[in-house]
Amino acid sequence: MTTIKSMWLPMLISIAALGGLDVTGAQGHLHDQTLNNLRTALREEAFTYVKYQLFAQHARDARRTEVAEVFARTADAERFQHLKEEAELAGLIGDEVENLRDAISGETTAVEVMYKQFAEQARTGGDEEAAILFEQMQRYELAHLYTFKAVLGQLERARTSSSR
Ligand SMILES: [Fe+2]
Ligand SMILES: [Fe+2]
Repeated sequence: MTTIKSMWLPMLISIAALGGLDVTGAQGHLHDQTLNNLRTALREEAFTYVKYQLFAQHARDARRTEVAEVFARTADAERFQHLKEEAELAGLIGDEVENLRDAISGETTAVEVMYKQFAEQARTGGDEEAAILFEQMQRYELAHLYTFKAVLGQLERARTSSSR
């Protein structure tokens, strides 16, 4: 049976191929395949971090404190060790203008490519509930896109006026 869990890795590899994650290599000498693998690894670590936090919350709600603690502790390792070290190697974090441009690129891909296609494909497949959800996400990401663009505009105007 095909499940979300078994589909996750091939799915995130194909999403990574869409771009929007500006991973160039901190030292600029990494092989293309290595950079692609880093993008995949970063997404996998990030997803696992959030998933384990959700599992931890579920265990807390079910009063299984010991299970919650294992998930929470492991989530922290995914985020503060694995993802952190990979992000450093990947040169993921730049200055504020670079980070805003990266965010704008990612949100643009989410709005114009990913959720647009996902909604169309869900509707074609008869999954109307999923189509509506993807369209809702598309609107949410569009709001993020506008916010990032506005902040970048302010930053660039401030830089221009301070350099006069
Ligand atoms: Fe990990
Ligand atoms: Fe977003």
